[in-house]
Amino acid sequence: MAETTGSVLPKGFRSAELGWPELRRIPHPPYRIPVVGDVIGSRIRSPLQDSMRFGRQLGPIFRRRAFGKEIVFVWGAELAAELADETRFAKHVGLGVANLRPVAGDGLFTAYNHEPNWQLAHDVLAPGFSREAMEGYHPMMLAVAERLTDRWDRERAAGRAVDVPADMTKLTLETIARTGFGHDFGSFERSRPHPFVTAMVGTLTYAQRLNVLPAPLAPVVLRDATRRNAADMAYLNRTVDALVAARRGTAGEGDLLDRMLDTAHPETGERLTPENIRRQVITFLVAGHETTSGALSFALHYLSRHPAIAARARAEVDRVWGDTPRPAYDQVAKLRYVRRILDESLRLWPTAPAFAREARADTVLGGVHPMRPGAWTLVLTAMLHRDPDVWGADAEAFDPDRFDAPAVRSRPGHTFKPFGTGARACIGRQFALHEATLVLGLLLRRYELRPEPDYRLRIAERLTLMPEGLRLHLEERAPAPDSAHGRPVIRSAD
Ligand code: HEM
Repeated sequence: MAETTGSVLPKGFRSAELGWPELRRIPHPPYRIPVVGDVIGSRIRSPLQDSMRFGRQLGPIFRRRAFGKEIVFVWGAELAAELADETRFAKHVGLGVANLRPVAGDGLFTAYNHEPNWQLAHDVLAPGFSREAMEGYHPMMLAVAERLTDRWDRERAAGRAVDVPADMTKLTLETIARTGFGHDFGSFERSRPHPFVTAMVGTLTYAQRLNVLPAPLAPVVLRDATRRNAADMAYLNRTVDALVAARRGTAGEGDLLDRMLDTAHPETGERLTPENIRRQVITFLVAGHETTSGALSFALHYLSRHPAIAARARAEVDRVWGDTPRPAYDQVAKLRYVRRILDESLRLWPTAPAFAREARADTVLGGVHPMRPGAWTLVLTAMLHRDPDVWGADAEAFDPDRFDAPAVRSRPGHTFKPFGTGARACIGRQFALHEATLVLGLLLRRYELRPEPDYRLRIAERLTLMPEGLRLHLEERAPAPDSAHGRPVIRSAD
């Protein structure tokens, strides 16, 4: 708990007035109330969606204040492109990310830029995401995906709808656990989420609550939650310690854990300490599955709502994969249209919906807003991805063709940022895209996805985003009209 003060607030929160000398130029919501701030229209469970609404009202840069904490938000494409300039700006570890420090410490995601363990871990672990490493993960990803299709086959046969976020979370947790750490949580054999997932969701939700609750109220309102959070963190630590202990002294298959335990930095010869390894394992188990699970869930939602898009994607899978029972590594990246569906889902609902940037030195944002060194702002990715100047008046509509090559070339840079930006952008991007494209291909090839008639998309926020309550009905796939061989069937290992 080194990073929390006597209260539960993270140390060092820098309210905007400390870094933005001309803050008054930035609009804020009407009806600001003395002391409490912009609380009208703010809900504790949906800070992101509230910010999106304020963004639509107030424009590409705005601010919100609650109980003495003021935050500047940016979503206009031009300003966001400036913030991507690594010579002027860097990642800011603040708010939700800083709230995760008690559990993830100086692990890759939560490390401050100046902490030496960031560069060390980055250099040691980056080869774990090379093309060669990814090719090694591919058969494991397939094996986990087949556990999902086995389960979905049974649900389909029984006429039961599937719980998409729950099952995608099982899939992505098992995938990162298996590929990264040679571990099996047995998620598919459980009727309830693995306790690791429950503890993780607990810590993410708690971190988000800390963001939105007024500082004086947090210790009182969150007294029980703080106790539960301590128990959740202890559980995460125990699970990871057992996993690492089981590996020590035995040879793994060259996975991320092997790299953490055995690899010295190529230039300095330094190694990760046991405490840092614990933090990295938690970081990868959490960052490596929560966001991918949401991305897959949103994509499946949109596919169920757009049968013509699903049919086009299915035709691509048939064409590229043919009758092969188990697609090879190279056949996944060739699913260009499926990948566009994923990109378009991440455009509308980037599952890590914001990232923070801080000024390296005195600078002026957009030629108008002076910032002192360390002044920071939150880039609202979910709104950047809807900027009508870039995405058009129909930015709310789901259209994967926005990501065909000519359309991508016609857009300015830094307008699509689901994986963050710069040196601290997502190290697992290729991992996530390969896994998600593979799984969507397998599911499209096997099932027709039918929505529940009354379902309306609701977004659950717990630092990451998830379609709440999404259930789909599965039907055996109808033969494609132009398919000579009818339904291509894939079976698990046999
Ligand atoms: C669709 C899936 C994913 C999304 C949308 C996503 C998004 C992001 C974003 C936005 C950041 C930057 C955060 C910031 O600037 O504060 C990030 C960083 C990171 N992500 Fe991902 N991520 C995904 C999947 C993964 C996977 C599969 C892994 C690991 C296997 C992973 C591991 C990490 C790590 C370790 C960092 C910190 C990198 C650093 O600072 O050096 N992510 N991710």
